[in-house]
Amino acid sequence: MPATRRALLAALTDGPIRGPELAARLGVSRAAVWKHVEALRAAGVDVESTDDGYVVTGVDGYSGEAITYGLDAPFQIEYHDTVGSTNDRARTLASDGASDVAVVADEQTASRGRLDREWVSPPGGVWLSVVCRPDVPPAHAPAYTLAMAVAVTRACREAGVDARIKWPNDVLVGEGGDRGGQKLCGILTEMEGEADRVSWLAVGPGLNANVRPADLPPEAGATSLLAERGDPVDRRVVVQRILEEFDDLRDDLRGAVSEWEKYGDTVGQRVRVDTPGGVVEGDAVGVEFPGALVVETDGGPVRVTAGDCEHLRPTGE
Ligand code: BTN
Repeated sequence: MPATRRALLAALTDGPIRGPELAARLGVSRAAVWKHVEALRAAGVDVESTDDGYVVTGVDGYSGEAITYGLDAPFQIEYHDTVGSTNDRARTLASDGASDVAVVADEQTASRGRLDREWVSPPGGVWLSVVCRPDVPPAHAPAYTLAMAVAVTRACREAGVDARIKWPNDVLVGEGGDRGGQKLCGILTEMEGEADRVSWLAVGPGLNANVRPADLPPEAGATSLLAERGDPVDRRVVVQRILEEFDDLRDDLRGAVSEWEKYGDTVGQRVRVDTPGGVVEGDAVGVEFPGALVVETDGGPVRVTAGDCEHLRPTGE
């Protein structure tokens, strides 16, 4: 989105503003203001021309402009109706030096899950990847995934869906199934960096928002906000809330891990975790910064930093 359009959206957030004042503030002609206002209207931001000037009367679109209007977080939105993978696009932007950009798509045609698994992204989902460049060591990267899981969980709860988190980063609803619930959202975090410093992170949640579970692979054991609520959610608001929460949480990563514990349901479960170094089985007793699951095994406590986690039964049963 052009910088002038972003500046126009920011100016309109404060209430009615007249064309000449907008032109002066943005440093463009009145004709250019009019063209940008037309573009906002086409993108679903309802701008009316009143006696007091231009005013936004509603937003009913899902677009870069619609998400940017009223967003209380410093992310530039790059919106696509269709893209291969928002994470792939985020990686390209990051390699070109971008920071604090959120790539949003209505549909993805080549999306990826963790460990190169398939991820199906029909139109209607919240397919999002956030590029940021935190000044932290690579070992702290998992905390950003946990922060994103908290942000998504809160946005889902605000939408009326009782979401919770399974370690490390699956957002689930309900009980049962192989996962101990049905999957609403997964998160793929990718990074580049040196031994002691992250260069960039691409944190990519895929949230089944206005998607029918029948349009997702049956083996995914998935649900959606649409299925849980019975009616579609306003994805613009969901994306805004995710970005606003994530922005707050990334400022205090230790606090983010504590917040994660409020929504996480893995602690207190007998678990089997398939890690790159082998299977770890025992009682999950805690989560430690930057996101390690502490499993009490027959041989003592083990800190697991990555892996697929299966809940076997509640501890003590
Ligand atoms: C998982 O549970 O395996 C993680 C799934 C992550 C999917 C999201 S959708 C937005 C972003 N773009 C991708 O290609 N993948 C992530």
